[in-house]
Amino acid sequence: MQRHIFGVTTTMLGSLDPESDEAVANACVAVRGLVALVLGHTRFEETYIHPLFEAAAPDVAAFFDAQHIEFDHRFARLEDRVAALESVEMVDRSTAAGDLYDEFVTILASYYEHMELEEQRAAPILQKNMTKRQSSTLNSH
Ligand SMILES: [Fe+2]
Repeated sequence: MQRHIFGVTTTMLGSLDPESDEAVANACVAVRGLVALVLGHTRFEETYIHPLFEAAAPDVAAFFDAQHIEFDHRFARLEDRVAALESVEMVDRSTAAGDLYDEFVTILASYYEHMELEEQRAAPILQKNMTKRQSSTLNSH
């Protein structure tokens, strides 16, 4: 689901007409929604998933905790770019839209790598250490 929204939002930002108030407003809503989705997912992982492998692999847990903190900061900066796009004069909108797009795709590239690392490094640890009950609880979210 996340990857689909990432793709749709990338296309939206990449084809954004900065002179269209409606298109800019829609893009800003889309990016803020994506940030909320990602950060909500991050909190879910920290609450329900990380504790499951902290004891088995504390170094891996610390690695992903640190990445989450970094992404919190990076997505906050992305929201600053959204606010900048909303508030600039029309003459500067194209630059602000380009800055938002550049920041967005840069963060997204790193976030895709983060998700891949979670699937490669964290998922096997979880599969090895989770009880059936824990697995069932996770799958229900
Ligand atoms: Fe994560």
